[in-house]
Amino acid sequence: MLRLVPALLDKRLIFVTGKGGVGKSTVATALGLVSARRGLRTIVVELARQERVKRAFESSSQAAPMDEALEEVELAPGLFTISIDPQQAMEEYLRVKTGPLGQALGSSKLFGAFAMATPGMRELLSIGKVWELAQLQRRTRGAAPYDSVIVDAPASGHGVGILRTPRTFAEIARVGPIAHQGRTIATTIADRTFTGFVAVATAEEMPVNETLALRDALAGDQLELDAVIVNARYPERFGPAELTGLRDALMRAQTPVGRAALRAALSEHARMTVQLEQQARLCEGLGTALLELPFVFSDRLARPELELLADRLEEQL
Ligand SMILES: Nc1ncnc2c1ncn2[C@@H]1O[C@H](COP(=O)(O)OP(=O)(O)OP(=O)(O)O)[C@@H](O)[C@H]1O
Ligand SMILES: [Mg+2]
Repeated sequence: MLRLVPALLDKRLIFVTGKGGVGKSTVATALGLVSARRGLRTIVVELARQERVKRAFESSSQAAPMDEALEEVELAPGLFTISIDPQQAMEEYLRVKTGPLGQALGSSKLFGAFAMATPGMRELLSIGKVWELAQLQRRTRGAAPYDSVIVDAPASGHGVGILRTPRTFAEIARVGPIAHQGRTIATTIADRTFTGFVAVATAEEMPVNETLALRDALAGDQLELDAVIVNARYPERFGPAELTGLRDALMRAQTPVGRAALRAALSEHARMTVQLEQQARLCEGLGTALLELPFVFSDRLARPELELLADRLEEQL
């Protein structure tokens, strides 16, 4: 694992996944910053139109219109983002593949509704667009290639599902353009020199369980995690003597504010202790080294906080 981690950013396509809410979008963006700092033309891809990445870079006064999906937006020098909407991905696919007829089909409500109702079609279209972004020769006319495509993938279960979609379609369709496309994408995903997988977890019981399950699910598809990032780690602030001091102070505290502050300090320490235990369990379960990111004490993770997380990642990669 340690041997592979330095090569992570050499892979053109990186999927970042993990349990819901553990910081996938945050880590994908921080990883994007690291990649861009290395001079790689990088795009962070959000699936399912969340536009979280883009919004983190906007000051709250800036409006965040939702009508720019499937547009590659430059966030910082060399760092782009796109939010993939399957409907628009389908229209683009048909336009590129089949010219004006496809375009007419793509804009046909009935056809659209029909295609979108096909199980897995949304996932196939989304991952097809991801694949397109990672190609040296972009299908999209005039589009410049990326050195690095970092996918802010859906939560673990769905994330693995989406990775399987191309192969499933290839197997079902067997022949024809969808089977061909499915096979091409599946081959790309299976190529360890091209595609990497990063799991994000918080050091808590459920996210740790889910990360271990994710490792197993990937192994079932002959895929492997390149890096596991434990996000939002609390600092170890107090030694034993200080803890005793804090507990004594709490017994003696006269004011509600004083008591609240002392309780907050002690409860943060308790959470940190649980994190240490859970991280040890994860480390043991995976049998590999982990990367760590600190909990950032800030109302909102905007550009400066993301740069800070990128600094931490850079030190460990
Ligand atoms: N290291 C951190 N320190 C402090 N807050 C963090 C950290 N990482 C993420 N957060 C915050 O936690 C919340 C969830 O993070 P994020 O949106 O990146 O998670 P996610 O895994 O992408 O969630 P979802 O599953 O909903 O897509 C956000 O409010 C984010 O700002
Ligand atoms: Mg997210």
